[in-house]
Amino acid sequence: MRELGTLIAIDGPSASGKSSVARGVAQELGFIYVDSGALYRGVTWLALESGLDGSDEAAVMQVVDAVAWRFFVEAGAVVFSIDEVRPGEALRGKAVREAVSRFAALPRVRSFVVSRLRSHAQLGSLVIEGRDIGSAVFPDTPLKFYLDADERERAMRRHRELMAAGESEKAEEVLLSLKRRDKMDAARVHDPLRVPVGAVRIDSTSLNLKEVIEVVINRVLEC
Ligand code: CDP
Repeated sequence: MRELGTLIAIDGPSASGKSSVARGVAQELGFIYVDSGALYRGVTWLALESGLDGSDEAAVMQVVDAVAWRFFVEAGAVVFSIDEVRPGEALRGKAVREAVSRFAALPRVRSFVVSRLRSHAQLGSLVIEGRDIGSAVFPDTPLKFYLDADERERAMRRHRELMAAGESEKAEEVLLSLKRRDKMDAARVHDPLRVPVGAVRIDSTSLNLKEVIEVVINRVLEC
């Protein structure tokens, strides 16, 4: 039995398996799953819909602050609406995918997302995945994991996902886009992607999903 309010932080680069692992761990432990990237994608979607390219932070924040963000727990995961609209699949589409790291580098966008993420802690115990969860959002949690995998393996996984979702990008393009995003996420000034202090590192290149989930759960049960 785990104490209420337990926070499990799972960070890592694109397509390292964070979402599937975090969902699996949450399901097994009865925790709520939080996809922090979805919120950065939500801001990006909203800004792109408003004709913004991310070069004017004040303009981005004006549209972010002008809409109603509502959060719900649905099927064990936090989901959100923006002015009653659920952006859904558009969040994973190419336009958002190519722009998100630019918007996520804006300090006021980060503060907006971080404060929403922290408020989710009142919902109960969470498994939350992202780039800066163990380093900046919940640095005090003792349960931190950093998931990684070989770059080509990650690109192959993402390519398979995109194919399954009906997209037609070439494998090489997916690899380049993933590299671009990782580079921007690691190089940004505010809360860059890095291994949080005290995180357990897991290289999932040759592990399957079940095995990675097991590593995380075993560690959580030890603590
Ligand atoms: O699914 P994938 O790992 O490719 O991306 P995601 O988790 O949906 O995150 C999309 C983008 O949001 C990342 O490339 C980062 O630029 C940004 N992000 C971030 O800056 N901090 C987080 N905690 C989560 C995502």
